[in-house]
Formats: sequence, structure tokens, C-alpha cells
Amino acid sequence: MIRVAIDGPAGVGKSTTSKALAKYFGYAYLDTGAMYRACTWWCLRQGLDLDAEQPDVDRITAAVGEFFTEDHFDISVDPEHPDVLSDGVSIAEEIRSGEVSSHVSVVSSIMPVRHLLIAAQRAFIAREADADSFSKGAGIVAEGRDITTVVAPDAEVRVLLTAREEVRAARRAGQTSAASGNAGAAAVGPDDVAARDKADSKVTSFLTAAEGVTTVDNSDMDFEQTLDTLIALVDEAA
Ligand code: C5P
Repeated sequence: MIRVAIDGPAGVGKSTTSKALAKYFGYAYLDTGAMYRACTWWCLRQGLDLDAEQPDVDRITAAVGEFFTEDHFDISVDPEHPDVLSDGVSIAEEIRSGEVSSHVSVVSSIMPVRHLLIAAQRAFIAREADADSFSKGAGIVAEGRDITTVVAPDAEVRVLLTAREEVRAARRAGQTSAASGNAGAAAVGPDDVAARDKADSKVTSFLTAAEGVTTVDNSDMDFEQTLDTLIALVDEAA
């Protein structure tokens, strides 16, 4: 049983690499950012004002609680077909919109919301770590901002995937313009990565590695080199 926890800032290629890593080992893949995005999408759809100077924390928490039930929310941890569903319908594309990206930090900074999602993420990880759902072995790759520190600090492999800020911004810009026709994999709207990282880093610690966490700086690596580095880390632990 191997749990791989990967944290890092926006635009570092975390999702693409984590998904490929999960596929390689036949592990489950959990995109925790997609969960925060789905909650944000839901709040916006409920007409909640996420632009207010003082967002209504109680209403947002209540809305997320209502959404986060088996009836409404589902996430696929199949690395070949990751998906997020609302009432059985995929919202993979909607949650990557510029509107969701620019409001997600408001929702993810609300502690009762985090507690709800963290509990759900721990349950997914516990279930999938032993499940052997995707044939090759029991394990899960979970990625986000606080997986190595809060959600699964006892994971067998803990990585902080990072890159220099200008590299991340350039990658993210490329991702955005290449997004059409690639639903669910890339951003589909403007996304101020630096602003999001700044807001997120007030709540979660993903800019420097916690003790015992391996930093992989992929500024000068391509996708294959990043993936190979991560594969080697998992091989070491397996
Ligand atoms: O990874 P992604 O960029 O899709 O994450 C979207 C947002 O979800 C982040 O900007 C952050 O606000 C929130 N997030 C979080 N904790 C995580 C994963 C994501 O707060 N573990």
C-alpha cells in the first residue's frame, strides 16, 4: 500500500504529472483542487456573493455542506478518467473556468469548508490505499496544497513539486490557450496564478517543504524528466 502526497503551487504541472504517475503505477488519483473548485462552482451557482469584502462564511459553509453529500457530489479517482460530477453530470470543464479560478481561494480559505473536504479526502485516501482498484497495486496519488502536511502527513511518499514563478506563469499561460477541446485537463479562462498562490499560502503551506518532504524543482525539467523523478521516488518507497 503506497500513498503518494504531492503539494505545490499553481502552474507547476502538478495535476498532469500526478495523473501520469498514478497511471504508471495503476494507483488511484485524487485531485483535491478539483474538490475545492467544485464547491466554488456550486456556491456561484447558488448565487452566493464571493466578491463581498466579508463573504458570508456561514452561508458558504452551509452551501458546501449541502453539496457535499453522496446525492450531489461525486469524484472519479480512476487515473484514466478523472472526473467531478454534480448530480451525476460531469462538471470537469465548468470547474476550470476563469470565474471559478478567481473565486476558489475565497471558498478554500474558510476553515469549516476545509475541515469538511479534508475529512472526505482522508476517507478517499484510506479507501483507495488498500483497494487495488486499478489493477496493478494498492495505492493512491493525492495532490493539492496541504496533502503532505495536513491531509496525509504519514504518506509513504511526500513531495513538494515546485518551479520558479516565471516558469509557472509561462506554463499556465500555455495551458490556458491550449485548453479548448481538452476539457477537464486545463484552465479555460484567465487565471491569475500569482494572486491565487498568494491568497492560498495564507491558509496552506506549499511554498517550502515541510520536514521529511522531498522538494522537486522542475523549472528546468520537461514533463518526462519530472515524471521519471517522481517514479524513482515511489520506487524507492515501494
Ligand atoms: O490545484 P488547483 O489549482 O486546481 O486548486 C484550486 C484551488 O483549490 C487552489 O487555488 C486552492 O485555493 C484550493 N486548494 C486548497 N487545498 C488543496 C487543493 C486546492 O486549498 N489541497
